[in-house]
Amino acid sequence: MKFSIITLFPNIIETYLSESIIKKAIETKKITVEILDLRAFTTLPHGQVDDYQFGGGKGMVLMCEPVVNAINSVKTQDSFVVLTSPQGKTWDQAQARTFSQTKKHLIIICGHYEGFDSRILNYVDCEISIGDYVLTGGELASLIMLDSIARVVDGVIKAESHLNESFENNLLDYDVYTKPVEFDGHVVPDVLLSGHHQNIDHFRETSKIKNTLQKRPDLIDTTTMSPVQLDILKKLKGE
Ligand code: ADE
Repeated sequence: MKFSIITLFPNIIETYLSESIIKKAIETKKITVEILDLRAFTTLPHGQVDDYQFGGGKGMVLMCEPVVNAINSVKTQDSFVVLTSPQGKTWDQAQARTFSQTKKHLIIICGHYEGFDSRILNYVDCEISIGDYVLTGGELASLIMLDSIARVVDGVIKAESHLNESFENNLLDYDVYTKPVEFDGHVVPDVLLSGHHQNIDHFRETSKIKNTLQKRPDLIDTTTMSPVQLDILKKLKGE
């Protein structure tokens, strides 16, 4: 899968890509990332990409021309164009998975300053928000999209790592522990030391449902739960 990120701050994106799992995914050619510096696409002097808004008001607004030029420089029939914006649809794990499976080339435009000329929306396929708060720019939003999509691209991390992770099957992950067995009076549950795989599986299934009930009850969807999970849910609710 290919990502083209259009930004006023290429260094922010480059720094993130130069570390960890994303770096490895690029090196092993599981994903390709190109960074486009928006200022390279303006025809105005001094790399100008924004201007005052018509009608008056505070702040500079991103102009259409550099953004559309940047999109057109990389767009093919396989491209899907996203604009990061607090007005977009809220990003989640299900969309990350869908994008990883259905998009060959994602062009992400990092919104900036006080906003963008609304006519830019004629050139994008969708607006994405990463949550109900306002950032100073779209760079973090674009990296969050890139990271969450890249880690579910086949081969980037081990398939089994995805089996129980949070948000898969609408449940949060189970509790995990490592050495030492006792820390400051807090002990690892006995069952995890028992070597009894069936009991361990049951403990983990219960832990997932307990965590979801306590921390994110809004995620519980009984239509997607197995009979064993439904049984655990009933017991936890004391039904
Ligand atoms: N730009 C500013 N705030 C944003 C948000 N919440 N999501 C995506 N892009 C943004």
